[in-house]
Amino acid sequence: MDKETSIEHLKDTVESWLGNYFKNKGSYNKKVYEAMDYSLSAGGKRIRPLLLLLTYMLYKDDFQEILPIASAVEMIHTYSLIHDDLPCMDNDDLRRGRPTNHKVFGEAVAVLAGDGLLNEGMNLMLKSCINREPNFIKACNIIAESAGAEGMVGGQIVDILSENTKIPIDQLYYMHSKKTGALIKSSIIAGAVLGGASKSDIENLDYYGMKLGLAFQIKDDILDIVGDTETLGKKAKSDLDNNKTNFITTYGLNKCIEMCNSITGECIEVLDNVSGDTSKLKDLTLFLLNREK
Ligand code: IPE
Ligand code: IPE
Ligand code: MG
Ligand code: MG
Ligand code: MG
Repeated sequence: MDKETSIEHLKDTVESWLGNYFKNKGSYNKKVYEAMDYSLSAGGKRIRPLLLLLTYMLYKDDFQEILPIASAVEMIHTYSLIHDDLPCMDNDDLRRGRPTNHKVFGEAVAVLAGDGLLNEGMNLMLKSCINREPNFIKACNIIAESAGAEGMVGGQIVDILSENTKIPIDQLYYMHSKKTGALIKSSIIAGAVLGGASKSDIENLDYYGMKLGLAFQIKDDILDIVGDTETLGKKAKSDLDNNKTNFITTYGLNKCIEMCNSITGECIEVLDNVSGDTSKLKDLTLFLLNREK
Protein backbone atom coordinates (compact mmCIF):
# COMPACT_ATOMS: atom_id res chain seq x y z
CA MET A 1 0.00 0.00 0.00
CA ASP A 2 1.18 3.50 -0.77
CA LYS A 3 2.27 4.84 2.63
CA GLU A 4 1.45 8.42 1.68
CA THR A 5 -2.22 7.62 1.25
CA SER A 6 -2.68 5.04 4.01
CA ILE A 7 -5.45 5.72 6.52
CA GLU A 8 -2.83 6.14 9.26
CA HIS A 9 -0.94 8.72 7.24
CA LEU A 10 -4.12 10.65 6.45
CA LYS A 11 -5.07 10.62 10.12
CA ASP A 12 -1.62 11.91 11.13
CA THR A 13 -1.89 14.65 8.52
CA VAL A 14 -5.28 15.79 9.84
CA GLU A 15 -3.95 15.57 13.40
CA SER A 16 -1.00 17.84 12.75
CA TRP A 17 -3.08 20.28 10.69
CA LEU A 18 -5.53 20.62 13.60
CA GLY A 19 -2.73 20.69 16.16
CA ASN A 20 -1.09 23.69 14.49
CA TYR A 21 -4.20 25.62 13.62
CA PHE A 22 -4.78 27.54 16.86
CA LYS A 23 -1.11 27.95 17.75
CA ASN A 24 -0.16 31.57 18.56
CA LYS A 25 -3.70 32.81 18.00
CA GLY A 26 -5.42 35.31 20.27
CA SER A 27 -4.68 38.11 22.71
CA TYR A 28 -7.24 39.02 25.41
CA ASN A 29 -9.35 36.21 23.94
CA LYS A 30 -6.62 33.57 24.35
CA LYS A 31 -8.68 31.59 26.88
CA VAL A 32 -11.27 30.64 24.29
CA TYR A 33 -8.56 29.30 21.94
CA GLU A 34 -7.08 27.33 24.82
CA ALA A 35 -10.46 25.75 25.52
CA MET A 36 -11.14 25.10 21.81
CA ASP A 37 -7.75 23.46 21.37
CA TYR A 38 -8.12 21.44 24.55
CA SER A 39 -11.01 19.41 23.10
CA LEU A 40 -9.87 19.48 19.48
CA SER A 41 -6.39 18.16 20.16
CA ALA A 42 -7.55 15.48 22.59
CA GLY A 43 -7.64 12.97 19.76
CA GLY A 44 -10.70 11.05 18.68
CA LYS A 45 -11.09 8.73 15.75
CA ARG A 46 -11.24 11.58 13.20
CA ILE A 47 -13.56 9.51 11.08
CA ARG A 48 -15.43 12.42 9.50
CA PRO A 49 -12.33 14.04 7.96
CA LEU A 50 -11.06 10.58 7.03
CA LEU A 51 -14.31 9.73 5.25
CA LEU A 52 -14.22 13.04 3.40
CA LEU A 53 -10.61 12.53 2.31
CA LEU A 54 -11.02 8.86 1.35
CA THR A 55 -14.11 9.57 -0.72
CA TYR A 56 -12.38 12.49 -2.44
CA MET A 57 -9.40 10.24 -3.17
CA LEU A 58 -11.59 7.84 -5.14
CA TYR A 59 -11.36 10.57 -7.78
CA LYS A 60 -8.34 12.77 -7.06
CA ASP A 61 -4.94 12.47 -5.37
CA ASP A 62 -4.17 15.98 -4.19
CA PHE A 63 -5.89 15.73 -0.82
CA GLN A 64 -3.84 18.63 0.62
CA GLU A 65 -6.19 20.92 -1.31
CA ILE A 66 -9.17 19.96 0.78
CA LEU A 67 -7.52 19.47 4.18
CA PRO A 68 -9.02 22.74 5.52
CA ILE A 69 -12.52 21.47 4.66
CA ALA A 70 -11.86 18.06 6.22
CA SER A 71 -10.50 19.80 9.33
CA ALA A 72 -13.49 22.12 9.47
CA VAL A 73 -15.78 19.09 9.76
CA GLU A 74 -13.76 17.87 12.74
CA MET A 75 -14.11 21.31 14.37
CA ILE A 76 -17.88 21.20 13.90
CA HIS A 77 -18.01 17.68 15.32
CA THR A 78 -15.86 18.63 18.32
CA TYR A 79 -18.13 21.60 19.07
CA SER A 80 -21.08 19.19 19.10
CA LEU A 81 -19.28 16.99 21.63
CA ILE A 82 -18.46 19.91 23.96
CA HIS A 83 -22.08 20.99 23.99
CA ASP A 84 -23.38 17.40 24.19
CA ASP A 85 -21.43 16.89 27.43
CA LEU A 86 -22.69 20.03 29.19
CA PRO A 87 -24.67 19.59 32.43
CA CYS A 88 -27.81 20.83 30.65
CA MET A 89 -27.35 18.17 27.96
CA ASP A 90 -25.84 14.74 28.82
CA ASN A 91 -23.91 15.97 31.87
CA ASP A 92 -20.75 13.96 31.22
CA ASP A 93 -17.39 14.42 32.92
CA LEU A 94 -15.09 12.55 30.57
CA ARG A 95 -14.49 12.89 26.81
CA ARG A 96 -11.69 11.58 24.63
CA GLY A 97 -9.97 10.35 27.79
CA ARG A 98 -9.90 13.81 29.36
CA PRO A 99 -12.15 15.71 31.76
CA THR A 100 -14.85 17.39 29.67
CA ASN A 101 -14.39 20.97 28.55
CA HIS A 102 -16.76 22.46 31.14
CA LYS A 103 -15.05 20.48 33.93
CA VAL A 104 -11.77 22.21 33.13
CA PHE A 105 -12.85 25.64 31.93
CA GLY A 106 -16.33 26.08 33.43
CA GLU A 107 -19.65 26.09 31.60
CA ALA A 108 -19.53 29.60 30.17
CA VAL A 109 -16.13 29.06 28.56
CA ALA A 110 -17.18 25.61 27.30
CA VAL A 111 -20.25 27.08 25.58
CA LEU A 112 -18.03 29.71 23.96
CA ALA A 113 -15.39 27.15 22.98
CA GLY A 114 -18.12 25.20 21.18
CA ASP A 115 -19.39 28.35 19.50
CA GLY A 116 -15.83 29.25 18.51
CA LEU A 117 -15.19 25.86 16.92
CA LEU A 118 -18.46 25.90 14.99
CA ASN A 119 -17.79 29.36 13.62
CA GLU A 120 -14.15 28.65 12.80
CA GLY A 121 -15.29 25.54 10.92
CA MET A 122 -17.73 27.60 8.87
CA ASN A 123 -15.13 30.31 8.32
CA LEU A 124 -12.56 27.78 7.11
CA MET A 125 -15.05 26.32 4.66
CA LEU A 126 -16.04 29.71 3.28
CA LYS A 127 -12.39 30.72 2.88
CA SER A 128 -11.74 27.49 0.98
CA CYS A 129 -14.39 28.46 -1.57
CA ILE A 130 -12.90 31.83 -2.53
CA ASN A 131 -11.84 31.75 -6.18
CA ARG A 132 -12.62 28.04 -6.46
CA GLU A 133 -14.84 25.98 -8.72
CA PRO A 134 -18.58 25.88 -7.79
CA ASN A 135 -18.28 22.33 -6.42
CA PHE A 136 -16.39 23.77 -3.41
CA ILE A 137 -19.31 25.92 -2.30
CA LYS A 138 -21.69 23.06 -3.04
CA ALA A 139 -19.72 20.65 -0.82
CA CYS A 140 -19.43 23.19 2.01
CA ASN A 141 -23.13 23.96 1.80
CA ILE A 142 -23.88 20.23 2.22
CA ILE A 143 -21.72 20.13 5.36
CA ALA A 144 -23.17 23.35 6.82
CA GLU A 145 -26.73 22.16 6.30
CA SER A 146 -26.01 18.80 7.91
CA ALA A 147 -24.82 20.50 11.10
CA GLY A 148 -27.97 22.56 11.60
CA ALA A 149 -31.59 22.11 12.63
CA GLU A 150 -32.28 19.80 9.67
CA GLY A 151 -29.20 17.76 10.63
CA MET A 152 -27.19 17.24 13.81
CA VAL A 153 -29.02 19.88 15.86
CA GLY A 154 -32.34 18.38 14.72
CA GLY A 155 -31.25 14.96 16.02
CA GLN A 156 -29.96 16.38 19.28
CA ILE A 157 -33.28 18.08 20.04
CA VAL A 158 -35.15 14.78 19.59
CA ASP A 159 -32.54 13.08 21.80
CA ILE A 160 -33.05 15.64 24.56
CA LEU A 161 -36.83 15.44 24.30
CA SER A 162 -36.64 11.63 24.45
CA GLU A 163 -35.21 11.58 27.98
CA ASN A 164 -37.53 9.87 30.46
CA THR A 165 -40.03 8.97 27.78
CA LYS A 166 -40.48 6.35 25.11
CA ILE A 167 -40.41 7.56 21.52
CA PRO A 168 -41.88 5.79 18.48
CA ILE A 169 -39.54 3.87 16.18
CA ASP A 170 -39.73 6.34 13.30
CA GLN A 171 -38.65 9.12 15.67
CA LEU A 172 -35.78 6.95 16.90
CA TYR A 173 -34.56 6.48 13.32
CA TYR A 174 -34.95 10.21 12.73
CA MET A 175 -32.87 10.94 15.84
CA HIS A 176 -30.03 8.59 14.90
CA SER A 177 -29.93 9.57 11.26
CA LYS A 178 -29.75 13.25 12.18
CA LYS A 179 -27.69 13.55 15.36
CA THR A 180 -24.88 11.35 14.08
CA GLY A 181 -25.74 10.23 10.57
CA ALA A 182 -26.07 13.71 9.07
CA LEU A 183 -22.47 14.84 9.55
CA ILE A 184 -21.08 11.42 8.62
CA LYS A 185 -23.12 11.31 5.43
CA SER A 186 -22.33 14.91 4.50
CA SER A 187 -18.59 14.27 4.94
CA ILE A 188 -18.86 11.44 2.43
CA ILE A 189 -20.98 13.37 -0.06
CA ALA A 190 -18.83 16.50 0.26
CA GLY A 191 -15.72 14.43 -0.53
CA ALA A 192 -17.47 13.00 -3.58
CA VAL A 193 -18.67 16.40 -4.79
CA LEU A 194 -15.18 17.90 -4.35
CA GLY A 195 -13.69 14.98 -6.25
CA GLY A 196 -16.13 15.41 -9.13
CA ALA A 197 -18.00 12.11 -8.68
CA SER A 198 -20.67 11.05 -11.19
CA LYS A 199 -24.37 11.30 -10.35
CA SER A 200 -24.63 7.56 -9.97
CA ASP A 201 -21.62 7.40 -7.61
CA ILE A 202 -23.11 10.17 -5.50
CA GLU A 203 -26.39 8.25 -5.26
CA ASN A 204 -24.59 5.12 -4.11
CA LEU A 205 -22.39 7.06 -1.68
CA ASP A 206 -25.51 8.75 -0.31
CA TYR A 207 -26.93 5.32 0.49
CA TYR A 208 -23.57 4.21 1.93
CA GLY A 209 -23.39 7.35 4.12
CA MET A 210 -26.92 6.92 5.40
CA LYS A 211 -26.30 3.29 6.36
CA LEU A 212 -22.87 3.97 7.82
CA GLY A 213 -24.23 6.78 10.00
CA LEU A 214 -26.95 4.48 11.29
CA ALA A 215 -24.54 1.61 12.00
CA PHE A 216 -22.19 4.07 13.70
CA GLN A 217 -24.81 5.32 16.17
CA ILE A 218 -26.13 1.82 16.88
CA LYS A 219 -22.55 0.83 17.70
CA ASP A 220 -22.24 3.94 19.90
CA ASP A 221 -25.37 2.79 21.78
CA ILE A 222 -23.94 -0.74 22.08
CA LEU A 223 -20.67 0.59 23.47
CA ASP A 224 -22.58 2.67 26.01
CA ILE A 225 -23.78 -0.65 27.48
CA VAL A 226 -20.89 -3.07 26.90
CA GLY A 227 -17.92 -0.69 26.87
CA ASP A 228 -15.87 0.38 29.85
CA THR A 229 -15.15 3.98 30.71
CA GLU A 230 -11.37 3.61 30.54
CA THR A 231 -11.34 2.18 26.99
CA LEU A 232 -14.12 4.43 25.71
CA GLY A 233 -12.52 7.60 27.07
CA LYS A 234 -16.07 8.69 27.92
CA LYS A 235 -18.46 7.49 30.59
CA ALA A 236 -20.04 4.10 29.96
CA LYS A 237 -23.78 3.77 30.71
CA SER A 238 -24.32 7.50 30.26
CA ASP A 239 -27.50 6.83 28.22
CA LEU A 240 -28.76 4.51 30.93
CA ASP A 241 -28.16 7.11 33.65
CA ASN A 242 -29.93 9.78 31.59
CA ASN A 243 -32.84 7.43 30.88
CA LYS A 244 -32.49 7.95 27.12
CA THR A 245 -34.40 6.12 24.45
CA ASN A 246 -31.90 4.56 22.08
CA PHE A 247 -31.51 1.46 19.92
CA ILE A 248 -30.64 -0.67 22.95
CA THR A 249 -33.74 0.30 24.93
CA THR A 250 -35.85 -0.33 21.83
CA TYR A 251 -34.37 -3.53 20.37
CA GLY A 252 -32.13 -5.00 23.08
CA LEU A 253 -28.41 -5.72 22.84
CA ASN A 254 -28.44 -8.89 20.70
CA LYS A 255 -30.68 -7.45 18.03
CA CYS A 256 -28.54 -4.29 17.93
CA ILE A 257 -25.37 -6.33 17.38
CA GLU A 258 -27.13 -8.21 14.58
CA MET A 259 -28.38 -4.96 13.01
CA CYS A 260 -24.96 -3.37 13.19
CA ASN A 261 -23.43 -6.38 11.42
CA SER A 262 -26.02 -6.54 8.68
CA ILE A 263 -26.06 -2.78 8.02
CA THR A 264 -22.25 -2.84 7.78
CA GLY A 265 -22.63 -5.65 5.23
CA GLU A 266 -24.95 -3.43 3.19
CA CYS A 267 -22.37 -0.61 3.38
CA ILE A 268 -19.65 -2.87 1.99
CA GLU A 269 -21.93 -4.13 -0.77
CA VAL A 270 -22.94 -0.71 -2.01
CA LEU A 271 -19.28 0.33 -2.18
CA ASP A 272 -18.83 -2.32 -4.86
CA ASN A 273 -21.08 -0.21 -7.09
CA VAL A 274 -18.94 2.90 -6.70
CA SER A 275 -16.18 3.56 -9.22
CA GLY A 276 -12.54 3.70 -8.16
CA ASP A 277 -10.72 1.72 -5.49
CA THR A 278 -13.04 1.62 -2.47
CA SER A 279 -10.85 -0.76 -0.44
CA LYS A 280 -9.80 1.86 2.12
CA LEU A 281 -13.37 2.99 2.64
CA LYS A 282 -14.24 -0.66 3.23
CA ASP A 283 -11.38 -0.99 5.74
CA LEU A 284 -12.64 2.07 7.62
CA THR A 285 -16.21 0.73 7.56
CA LEU A 286 -15.11 -2.56 9.12
CA PHE A 287 -12.93 -0.75 11.63
CA LEU A 288 -16.02 1.17 12.78
CA LEU A 289 -18.01 -2.05 13.23
CA ASN A 290 -15.28 -3.68 15.31
CA ARG A 291 -14.14 -0.65 17.29
CA GLU A 292 -14.02 -0.69 21.08
CA LYS A 293 -14.30 3.08 21.48
C1 IPE B 1 -19.17 10.47 19.29
O1 IPE B 1 -18.55 10.59 18.06
C2 IPE B 1 -20.48 11.15 19.27
C3 IPE B 1 -21.39 10.62 18.27
C4 IPE B 1 -21.73 11.34 17.26
C5 IPE B 1 -21.94 9.29 18.45
P1 IPE B 1 -17.21 9.81 17.76
O2 IPE B 1 -17.35 8.39 18.24
O3 IPE B 1 -16.81 10.02 16.36
O4 IPE B 1 -16.20 10.54 18.76
P2 IPE B 1 -14.65 10.84 18.58
O5 IPE B 1 -14.53 11.96 17.59
O6 IPE B 1 -13.97 9.59 18.12
O7 IPE B 1 -14.19 11.27 19.95
C1 IPE C 1 -24.27 12.69 20.51
O1 IPE C 1 -24.76 11.42 20.74
C2 IPE C 1 -24.16 13.00 19.13
C3 IPE C 1 -23.65 14.37 18.96
C4 IPE C 1 -24.17 15.15 18.10
C5 IPE C 1 -22.54 14.88 19.76
P1 IPE C 1 -24.33 10.82 22.12
O2 IPE C 1 -24.73 11.69 23.25
O3 IPE C 1 -24.79 9.39 22.17
O4 IPE C 1 -22.73 10.84 22.00
P2 IPE C 1 -21.74 10.36 23.13
O5 IPE C 1 -22.11 8.93 23.44
O6 IPE C 1 -21.93 11.26 24.29
O7 IPE C 1 -20.40 10.46 22.49
MG1 MG D 1 -26.17 13.11 23.60
MG1 MG E 1 -23.55 12.21 24.99
MG1 MG F 1 -23.67 7.79 22.94
